[in-house]
Amino acid sequence: MTTNADWEATVAQWTSVYREVYDDQSTSRFAGWIDYVTGRRIPDAVMEAWLDWSVRSVRRLHPRAVLEIGGGTGMIADGLADIVDRYVLTDPVTGGDAHPHPAVTSKLAGAHELARVLDDADRFDCVVVNSVIQHFPDVDYLAHVLTGVVPHLTDDANIYLGDLRHAGLHRAQCRERARVREPFATPDRIDDLAAQFIRSDPELLVSPRDIARAASGLPGPWHLRVRPRAFDADSDLDRHRFDAVLTRREPTTAHGERRTVGNGLLGGTGPTPAELDRGPDAVSLHLEDPQSLWVGADDDLWFDIASLTTHEGSPS
Ligand SMILES: C[S@@+](CC[C@H](N)C(=O)[O-])C[C@H]1O[C@@H](n2cnc3c(N)ncnc32)[C@H](O)[C@@H]1O
Repeated sequence: MTTNADWEATVAQWTSVYREVYDDQSTSRFAGWIDYVTGRRIPDAVMEAWLDWSVRSVRRLHPRAVLEIGGGTGMIADGLADIVDRYVLTDPVTGGDAHPHPAVTSKLAGAHELARVLDDADRFDCVVVNSVIQHFPDVDYLAHVLTGVVPHLTDDANIYLGDLRHAGLHRAQCRERARVREPFATPDRIDDLAAQFIRSDPELLVSPRDIARAASGLPGPWHLRVRPRAFDADSDLDRHRFDAVLTRREPTTAHGERRTVGNGLLGGTGPTPAELDRGPDAVSLHLEDPQSLWVGADDDLWFDIASLTTHEGSPS
């Protein structure tokens, strides 16, 4: 059983990593972003596409009052400040820094310390956690964070969990990394190297089921929608990551033709998120039948997972 002391140690470790990263950003706001597969710095053009994807994904939720957890240097806040009434950015490293837009206030806190910086009366219709969960100690920590924010949410709130590293694609990702590292290695050697990379990866990788599990204790009803981050940059960032939205709104895309496809998003074998994106249809993932996806007649790629309260206990 993980203890809070373990949580504190992990948060302290990442906090010290990000102090250095942010100290080093004099040349580019994307300094410190390294492609996991190639080990090379990610080009600014890819990072711009990555950022644009996240900002657009949150904007389509029509937020008015945002709580951002792990807001970093405020890149997402910059892209949303003009459409919101209020934006509270929290971060254990940058929190407290001034932000040029009057709607944005910044507070110093880790995700597990929000009670210290939020007022009881604070209410948000959108929570943004973008590219942060990989630094969380474990899925229980995420569940703890979600439980802490729910009392601060409006009835129609959305929780955007963006840029999640997909646990089910970890092996494929590490095999790619092994092939880049040793292009002429035998298949056995690639397997060994990939296994080594998997063991030594310090970040938290999650699947849609993990998100469902983390949310399953929330006072409901809640729905979970998932989609690949398919911004077509052919980089590690769009091939191995996904977004999830926890929402109190009823699913709207769980209709249309039903067809079964391999379920790469659930972590089994099957298409990667990028391959799924090639289809024109929305895809709905049903927890009762986790080996298949429902493909709806909608050009939106959100996945609707059946109500978590209805299927309480299904996620594992
Ligand atoms: C990759 S940056 C993402 C920044 C921002 N969300 C964005 O998308 O531009 C990760 C951020 O997570 C923050 N972080 C790390 N561990 C955290 C934790 N336990 N709680 C809250 N924030 C955390 C770091 O300080 C850092 O600013």
